[in-house]
Amino acid sequence: MTAGGLRVRLTHTIAETWEAVAEARRAGHGVGLVPTMGALHDGHLSLVRAARERDGWVAVSLFVNPTQFGPQEVLAKYPRTLEADAALCDAAGVDLIFAPAAQEVYPEGFATTVHVAGVTQRLEGEFRPGHFDGVATVVCKLLQIAQPDRAYFGRKDYQQLAVIRRMAADLNLPVEIVGCPTIREADGLALSSRNRYLSAEERAAAPALYRALQAGAEVLRSGGSGEGAAARAKETLASTPLFRVQYLEVVDSETLAPHPHAGLPAVLMAAAMLGATRLIDNLLVE
Ligand code: PAJ
Repeated sequence: MTAGGLRVRLTHTIAETWEAVAEARRAGHGVGLVPTMGALHDGHLSLVRAARERDGWVAVSLFVNPTQFGPQEVLAKYPRTLEADAALCDAAGVDLIFAPAAQEVYPEGFATTVHVAGVTQRLEGEFRPGHFDGVATVVCKLLQIAQPDRAYFGRKDYQQLAVIRRMAADLNLPVEIVGCPTIREADGLALSSRNRYLSAEERAAAPALYRALQAGAEVLRSGGSGEGAAARAKETLASTPLFRVQYLEVVDSETLAPHPHAGLPAVLMAAAMLGATRLIDNLLVE
């Protein structure tokens, strides 16, 4: 099936998707996959562009994965904008959209979880228990379904990218995991589907999170310690009282273990509530 009047093909089932991928392979194309939960913005589209540059055939999955939402997080409230997403994919030259129903991905009797230890433990793992089990499981499935040569993920979700890299290496998945830069608004706010929930006042305050990370990065670049950098970033953010910080720390860029001392590379990781909206951001300093 194609999406109304668009060139991009739309599948809802795994069987149809396998068929489409097999066809692309027979035509000699390399396959790229961009997994998303839809509500596409330019951050997602930057991944599509990266795939477009390297792979002859590009698939985007649109699936709001229920297993990665915690009990406090409202799955039903997640924006669902299939028509707009399909139009954006079409314009970006995507070949296939895979938009399955939850039943297709998790049929009756589904009983397997992919759990990545270590790198999932702290940071997001602490504030969103079980979240990375849901992510690793669904990404593992999406990689089986689309069988891409390359799969593209944003560094915006730095810990998620590390979890997926770990999983792909540990399970010998025959795919290259490609990490792509964070796309930001002109004022520094990282694009996110959650930004739409910010009030005008919160939206105006939101770029303070990135400014705080930059202030911390300055400390690291001038030879300061991870501890000192995190303290500077927290101080900077404290001048915007609307934010309630969940974590703001400097960690090892690969293991995500605490990095209290000096030395690069290191990454500043932050999560904070801005009113009722949870924002995350990070800054890799090399
Ligand atoms: P979602 O939040 O829709 O994000 C899909 C991809 O877009 C992720 O790799 C994410 O890091 C990337 N992305 C989001 N905002 C970005 C930005 N501002 N700049 C660059 N990339 C950005 O992440 C998920 O979905 C899900 O957990 C998923 C991996 C699809 C599994 O369900």
